[in-house]
Amino acid sequence: MEDALLKLKNEAAGDLAAIASAGDLEPFRIKYFGRKSPFTRLMRQLGDAPAADRPRLGKLANELKKELQRQFEEKKASLSRQGMAEGADIDLTLPGRTTPQGKLHPVTQIMEEICGIFEGLGFTVAEGPDIETDFYNFEALNIPAHHPARDMHDTFYVDDSILLRTHTSPMQARVMETKEPPLRVIAPGKVYRCDSDITHTPMFHQVEGFLVDSDVSFADLKGVLSVFIAKMFDESTPIRFRPSFFPFTEPSAEVDIGCVMCNSKGCRVCKQTGWLEILGAGMIDPEVFKKVDYDPEVYSGFAFGLGVERIAMLKYGINDIRLYYENDLRFLRQF
Ligand code: DAH
Repeated sequence: MEDALLKLKNEAAGDLAAIASAGDLEPFRIKYFGRKSPFTRLMRQLGDAPAADRPRLGKLANELKKELQRQFEEKKASLSRQGMAEGADIDLTLPGRTTPQGKLHPVTQIMEEICGIFEGLGFTVAEGPDIETDFYNFEALNIPAHHPARDMHDTFYVDDSILLRTHTSPMQARVMETKEPPLRVIAPGKVYRCDSDITHTPMFHQVEGFLVDSDVSFADLKGVLSVFIAKMFDESTPIRFRPSFFPFTEPSAEVDIGCVMCNSKGCRVCKQTGWLEILGAGMIDPEVFKKVDYDPEVYSGFAFGLGVERIAMLKYGINDIRLYYENDLRFLRQF
């Protein structure tokens, strides 16, 4: 028995010395420390040895096994150090991979900024469907069938009466239909037009705003928009209201700000005028009130609509609207 143990010891030492790679470790472990290992077998045979020898032999077997285990662990550690040095296996000294952190898209950031300014003025946010009916997109806004104003919208039609909304103005009718004045609402969202060049993408974002109460005047509209522009751009940004036409407002205006690219001196962006158009606005037309059963003799209100991409372009000096939607991280990371 003692001889068998010593033989096993020598054999194991030889096997251990022959291990050259981490892959050989496991077969060795199974062979010498597994359930069917020679140690287990010898321990079982211990019962056949003379009673007087048993404690000594048992102790010897245990010590041998322990010593072999220690040598095995040492071998394992040395192979792993060697592996790291040679670049094999896993290099535990490598820094971990960091997860890149995402950010809000610049258009979303500006949209939130715009909404935040109006919320500060007491407006609440309302959202509506991108797939809209002809009624809300046009009829309710005083743009009947065959009205020339429809031509300007480059509409994507789903069928005769369903379309992708061309502006966020349909939210005026949707909200007024379900609520009574006083109302102070902004409606941000996506809009769609069949148009694509350096200043147009087929999908873009607008924020619609409207306020309805008794005795609302054009002065209120000017006040609210002036505060918005001062906060969005700069206190000193010049503002100009230019007469315009929209079927759903009367009177209507387009609002310009002093060109932020050239400080109103005149450049390519403002076509040498020193002014940039940033939104459309006006007093809500009585015809729109009639469609939602508001009495135009009792209520008055104003509405405005602005393009989010355009405002972001002016604020950040971006010259091609398509950059927003190319998903180029080098562009997006700058915001
Ligand atoms: N809906 C218009 C457009 O998309 C923008 C607009 C103009 C909205 C005047 C308004 C408004 O609320 O009063 O071109």
